Amino acid sequence: MNEYTLSDGLRAVQRAFDLVDPRLKGHGEQAAFLMWRLLDRMGCSRARMVSLTTAALFHDMGAYKTDADHSLSEFELLHTASHCVYGYLYARFYSPFPSFAPVILYHHMGYLYKRYIDPSFLTDSLLLNLSDRISFVFLTQQNPDFSFLGALSGIEFDPKHVAAFLEADREEGLLQALKDGSYHEKLHAFWRETTLSRSEVMNYAQMLMYSIDFRSEQTVTHSISVMSLSKLLCGLLGLDHVDTSIVTASAMLHDIGKITTPVQILEKKGPLTEEEMAIMKRHASATYEILTELGFDNIALIASSHHEKLDGSGYPRGLKGDEIPFYSRVLAVADILSALIGERSYKGPMPKGQVTAILGAMANRNQLDPIVTSVALEHYDELITFSAEDCAQTMEDYLSIKSEYLRLMQQFEAIEEAQREAPIPV
Ligand SMILES: [Fe+2]
Ligand SMILES: [Fe+2]
Ligand SMILES: [Fe+2]
Repeated sequence: MNEYTLSDGLRAVQRAFDLVDPRLKGHGEQAAFLMWRLLDRMGCSRARMVSLTTAALFHDMGAYKTDADHSLSEFELLHTASHCVYGYLYARFYSPFPSFAPVILYHHMGYLYKRYIDPSFLTDSLLLNLSDRISFVFLTQQNPDFSFLGALSGIEFDPKHVAAFLEADREEGLLQALKDGSYHEKLHAFWRETTLSRSEVMNYAQMLMYSIDFRSEQTVTHSISVMSLSKLLCGLLGLDHVDTSIVTASAMLHDIGKITTPVQILEKKGPLTEEEMAIMKRHASATYEILTELGFDNIALIASSHHEKLDGSGYPRGLKGDEIPFYSRVLAVADILSALIGERSYKGPMPKGQVTAILGAMANRNQLDPIVTSVALEHYDELITFSAEDCAQTMEDYLSIKSEYLRLMQQFEAIEEAQREAPIPV
């Protein structure tokens, strides 16, 4: 693997998110840029700035889950609680910066209501609130008018932060950098100074993986199950540690392209129409597009070829026989096995006899690799137990996220109610 920097890792995740939802294009990076410049001027350490700018980049990620039908203005101004809570939970459970997750939770809590903010995150979340709003106004107004900064100072924003921003803008031209787009290169130059180890790159890959599984309950354990099935298959096939880690990383991200598939199609009960099937199939090339950015160890090609068939009837490229990387053939068996044993919106889990018959028939029809398939059939019970254990943990996390979501939403709604009834003096 070549040297990787934080800029590469964040670019890949950002690219995936941009494919899902163009509403937020540029917003996360603009907020991160402003946050960085303000923190830097306040003497913040580099390590802290790295974590906080990363949190700022993803501060609205909860909107991907909750607000598909709302415009940027709606979820940023009117229905804020849900995306704050989801973004917080996602960052806490699945991101490489869990300790900064509360900054996302409070990023729409104004200065006037600072008593509701955990004091250890007060400054950072108010700074994010300010950076967020400046970018929001910039992206949504034809001729952005920033006089709101003065008007909302002491109400929505900390007056010290507004003063710091105005000074920074005078000295560094922050708004001009947003306008001419130069903020982007400046921010990435800052992130490029942080190199990532292989395991840190995998943390970003994992964060990407959970972003698809997190979207739909139907898919919540699929990537984990394909990952554990492929890992065990690699061992049974005698692959060494390095090869196994390449297959496992590809398995983790094989369906990342599904981040572009509408949830209604992912969760549809009953068979897909021809048109829906065509949309669903696009996930394989989207996987390639996203992973090219992450681009190590050929995983873009391996992962995106998991629906190719030896007889050339697969997709996205219709590759045949040896044209399909061996690692992709391992993924293909693991993927089909996981789909057959798992529950889907349109079917329950299938019994062993039926699963093995389907896999065997596909190998006989020259669709699945015969060696990989026979190893899978021979060790069927072992594979199923191994994957069930891995999935149980993921499901447990998912369920605790769901209950935590409800608990926090109640708390936020109570605060919103109190704010409506009796605005609190500063
Ligand atoms: Fe937001
Ligand atoms: Fe935002
Ligand atoms: Fe797939």
